[in-house]
Amino acid sequence: MAEVTDQPKKHARVILVGCGRQANRAIYPCVAAASDLFEVLATCDLVESLAQATARRVGAPRVYTDVNQAIEECQPDGAFVIGPPGMQEKVAAQVLEHGMPVFTEKPSAPTVAGARKLRDLARARSTWGQTGFMKRFNDAYRAARACLDRPEFGKPLFLEKHFYATNPTRQAGQSDEDLLWLLLIMQGTHAFDVARFFLGDIDRISAQARFGRDGTCAMSAQVSFTSGAMGTVQVNNLGGNGNARYLVDVMGDGRAHVRVDDMRRVTYHGSRWNPTPTSDSYQQGYFMDVHPLARRLWTLGHYGEVIAFGQAVVSGRDPEPPVPTLDDNLAALQACRAAWLSCFDGSKAIAPSTVEN
Ligand SMILES: NC(=O)c1ccc[n+]([C@@H]2O[C@H](COP(=O)([O-])OP(=O)(O)OC[C@H]3O[C@@H](n4cnc5c(N)ncnc54)[C@H](O)[C@@H]3O)[C@@H](O)[C@H]2O)c1
Repeated sequence: MAEVTDQPKKHARVILVGCGRQANRAIYPCVAAASDLFEVLATCDLVESLAQATARRVGAPRVYTDVNQAIEECQPDGAFVIGPPGMQEKVAAQVLEHGMPVFTEKPSAPTVAGARKLRDLARARSTWGQTGFMKRFNDAYRAARACLDRPEFGKPLFLEKHFYATNPTRQAGQSDEDLLWLLLIMQGTHAFDVARFFLGDIDRISAQARFGRDGTCAMSAQVSFTSGAMGTVQVNNLGGNGNARYLVDVMGDGRAHVRVDDMRRVTYHGSRWNPTPTSDSYQQGYFMDVHPLARRLWTLGHYGEVIAFGQAVVSGRDPEPPVPTLDDNLAALQACRAAWLSCFDGSKAIAPSTVEN
């Protein structure tokens, strides 16, 4: 009788760089939970006590304060780099220089030029990077995106994306220009990436902004897509404390309409497709709510994005769409910059692909 042996499973051997708030709140708990996929070789932070605390949490055997030393001594297959965008641009470049994949939070860099530099460096070193646009892995957004492929949906023509954030608000002495740019890179990148996730590349953006009391700020953008669809992207910091809102509507010329409220509730009105023929003829919808036992990190998308990174690292191949790459990071920052330029130039229509810096 042939002996049955378990094939040894291949792990993604990773280091965790940056042991601050978001890393420990959202990303590293998912890495630690997927112990059949990841082997964490080490943690690294400029502040050694933070690296040690994270190492204890995730069970990492080694601790570093210098990323190059961590890479040279551990020889990982890939790295998570989590921190503010400026830190990510600098440290992700160090990882890419070694020819290995990197996962960063969003955005991977604070400027269009920085995003392009990372994208080009990855190409030059024949490797890749993933940006933490976790909404692409959110259960509700994925279910909604699948509705667009249904036969009755028709051609998607219209999108509305609203992100009513609670921060960032104006810091002491900060100009309107700097406040709006911070709002756009920290929150607007998510909104424009969601728009691209649903309807593809953005052709032109025309935007305006308003500034209110207590550091408040709002941006409203008219967007046209290369597919021919149009829509609006609204980003502001007017959400009440603890009450950020995330709304998406997409409508097709088959008179279908999919809506996602707050990344958790999907409503689909499928025009000729009617799941409940006896219901009110004006409200023939399909609803999907998150199961009450679903864990927040899982349903928001953090777990899915972490797993996608680990699987691509193990496979040795570039990740497949819709995994957000450094090209998607660049496109999101270009969209933000086009909106920002438009706000301070009479709502002029600007093509994001032409934005250099
Ligand atoms: N996807 C989401 O929904 C979401 C939500 C919140 C925040 N974020 C993102 O998370 C990031 C914010 O991170 P944070 O506030 O947790 O950061 P943080 O400042 O708390 O932590 C960053 C850590 O990196 C360390 N560090 C700095 N330079 C380093 C270097 N060269 N080598 C090693 N370590 C270094 C610092 O010592 C610090 O401990 C931002 O990019 C933000 O956009 C994403």
